This record gives sequence, structure tokens and C-alpha cells, in this order.
Amino acid sequence: MKANQLMPKPAHLSWEESAVNALCNSTSYRMLVGRNGAQMKQGDDVLVWGATGGIGGYAIQYVLNGGGTPIGVVSSPARVELLNKMGCEAVIDRRAEGYQFWSDEHTQDEREWRRFGKKIRELVGEDPDIIFEHPGRSTMGASIFAVKRGGTVVTCAATSGYMVEFDNRHFWMKLKRLLSSHFANYHEAAAANKLISQGKIHPIMSDVYSLDRVGEAALAVHRNQAEGKLGVLCLAPEEGSGIDDPDKRERIGEDKITRFRSA
Ligand SMILES: NC(=O)c1ccc[n+]([C@@H]2O[C@H](COP(=O)([O-])OP(=O)(O)OC[C@H]3O[C@@H](n4cnc5c(N)ncnc54)[C@H](OP(=O)(O)O)[C@@H]3O)[C@@H](O)[C@H]2O)c1
Repeated sequence: MKANQLMPKPAHLSWEESAVNALCNSTSYRMLVGRNGAQMKQGDDVLVWGATGGIGGYAIQYVLNGGGTPIGVVSSPARVELLNKMGCEAVIDRRAEGYQFWSDEHTQDEREWRRFGKKIRELVGEDPDIIFEHPGRSTMGASIFAVKRGGTVVTCAATSGYMVEFDNRHFWMKLKRLLSSHFANYHEAAAANKLISQGKIHPIMSDVYSLDRVGEAALAVHRNQAEGKLGVLCLAPEEGSGIDDPDKRERIGEDKITRFRSA
């Protein structure tokens, strides 16, 4: 281990609450906040796909913390409720809306992109400045269409397929930007970890598994059954150990730290 790869453990969190943040918190920070990402400004409207997922759950917090308006997309009423509790008022339940962006394997349906864009305008009154994209093939056409003229789609993944397709006319004539991002450099990881330590961004851990049940945890993520992050106890003897500063934890608020546990 190189010394510059180590980051201070947040004193108010347990080992598992500290560990779950490392990948997705840093990734979302870079995508939205850092100078290599979309550089969200106060007042920006930001649409987040998979808004209670591993990267989406941090993205929503970065938008709220940075003075923007998040529009969260999820796929169940329970996830809508979780977003509302986090302070995200504009939410789209994509399953309830029944979007069919692809009418068949080879053809996208612009009418569905328009229906999606109209829904966003109904919720926040305008097109999003930034779209936080990661589903890939199933959503990229809609994302490029729906983002504001001159706006940015930032992507770090392609869960549903990496051969993405969009209508270039909407892209070039409206001067939109498509930005790539991958994980984070040391500076971005440290900045994201500092925000966790300050209690401005919180872990989004929804469950904890023992090491011998790690396969169950992976399956739950694979089946899109889990919200946020799942902790797996490796060297920690039990759940909840390693909290060095319980007073700080109380000041920051147990409800915020454990919000995803009751999801
Ligand atoms: N490049 C990097 O550095 C980096 C870092 C971390 C993660 N990733 C990648 O980013 C992706 C997301 O990671 P994650 O940790 O957030 O995963 P996750 O916890 O499984 O969450 C992904 C969310 O995306 C939504 N989703 C899935 N398929 C979708 C589809 N076809 N259309 C619309 N929404 C869909 C789901 O939310 P709803 O069903 O509620 O809508 C799901 O909860 C993964 O592919 C992961 O490998 C990349």
C-alpha cells in the first residue's frame, strides 16, 4: 500500500459505514463536482439515473449539498419515498411511467424521449443542466435528448449495454456535451472522503453481510434488489464497531447516517 492511497477513516462512522463510501462516493464527486467532471453550479438542475443506487445515492447528496435541484429517477414507490426523505422532491418512477425508449432492439422512439423530457419540465420547470448517466444503451438516447441546450451528460458506465446510440442532430445543433469519467484521482478521492468526515455527505449503506454471505450480497446487487451500498464484514468482528467519536455522530445525526438502513 502506498501512503498516498490511505485516507483518514471518518471518526463518527463504523468500519463498514466508512468502507462502503470509497468507490462510489469518489466516482460521483468527480462526475459532478471535480474539475474533471460536469462542475455543477449552485442552481443547476441535475437528473440522476438510478438515484438510490450505489453512485446515484451519493450524486443526489452532492446536488443537494452544492445548491442544485436533483431530479431522481428510480423504479419503485419505496425508492421514491427514500429520495423524498433525503430531500429530493422531484422524482420519476420510471417503472410506473412505463418508458419504452427502444421500440425494438434496433430502433429508439423519439416520442418516448419527448414524454420523458416533458415529465422533467413538469417537475422542475426546465430541462436539466446536467444528466448523471450510467445505465448506458437503454437510456443514453433519452439523456442526450433531454439535457438542456448547452448542457452536459456525464457518464461513467453502461450497465445495460455499452454500444450506445443517440440522435446526433439533437446533440450538435443544441451544443450539448458528453463527458466521460472514471473513478477518481487521489485528490478527488481525498476531497470526497473529507466531505464524509465533515458529515456533509453520508454513507448510503442499506444492509450488512458476514463474509461467508458475500455471494448473497453480490446477487442482491446483480438483481437490482438493494438500495445504496451493502457492507460486508471482513476483519471487523461485528457490526457497528470502530466508532471513534460518538459525540460527533450524535451531532451529525443518527437518522442521516443510517437513512438507507430502514429502506
Ligand atoms: N467508472 C467508474 O469509476 C464506476 C464507479 C462505480 C460504479 N460504476 C458503474 O456504474 C454503474 C452503476 O453503479 P451502482 O453502484 O450505482 O449500481 P447499482 O447500485 O446497481 O445501481 C444502479 C441503478 O441504476 C438503475 N438502472 C439499472 N438499469 C437501468 C436501466 N436499464 N435503465 C434505467 N436505470 C437503470 C437502477 O435503479 P432503478 O431501478 O431504481 O431505476 C439501479 O439501482 C455500474 O455499471 C457500475 O459498474 C462505474
